[in-house]
Amino acid sequence: MERVVLVGFAGAGKSTLGKSLAKLMDCQFIDLDRYIEDKAGLSIGDFIFQFGEQSFRKLEYACLQDVLKIKDCVIATGGGSPCYEDAMQLIVKNSLSIYLRLSVASLFDRLIHAKKKRPLLPDNEEDLKKYIDFNLKKREPFYSRSSLIVKGENINVKQIFDQIN
Ligand code: S3P
Repeated sequence: MERVVLVGFAGAGKSTLGKSLAKLMDCQFIDLDRYIEDKAGLSIGDFIFQFGEQSFRKLEYACLQDVLKIKDCVIATGGGSPCYEDAMQLIVKNSLSIYLRLSVASLFDRLIHAKKKRPLLPDNEEDLKKYIDFNLKKREPFYSRSSLIVKGENINVKQIFDQIN
């Protein structure tokens, strides 16, 4: 298999799992958010602040197309990456895709402490809960097209590695 792509909501643990999985698979790890930041020369927060979310989604889609050409790698996508244009179709076609699935409550617990890095998340707790609930419902149909769906609360990297090998 040439590449593994991890999808799921912000806070699902895609980057953490991606790094460990790449180590086990002895291949390169690519974090799409970092790839975008390198390409733009700006943090995602600054990019969205300066150019808006729509421009970010365009750049994100172009970067996704780039990384899907790289062989032998594990890619962690951003929470919104699979949900724009035909991105999820591209992911399914060009990788073994894994959806890290977590409940709204688990995502909330994680994201309440990780707001700083994520410019699109609302500040107060009530709005954050609504944001997760609303967007997870919208995004779930995209994520769910993955080849493998994994419960994200207590990830066992070795188990996932064995499942895909
Ligand atoms: C986003 C998630 C972020 C990042 C951007 C937008 C989203 O990635 O791509 O802030 O729309 O859910 P993570 O899932 O790595 O936090």
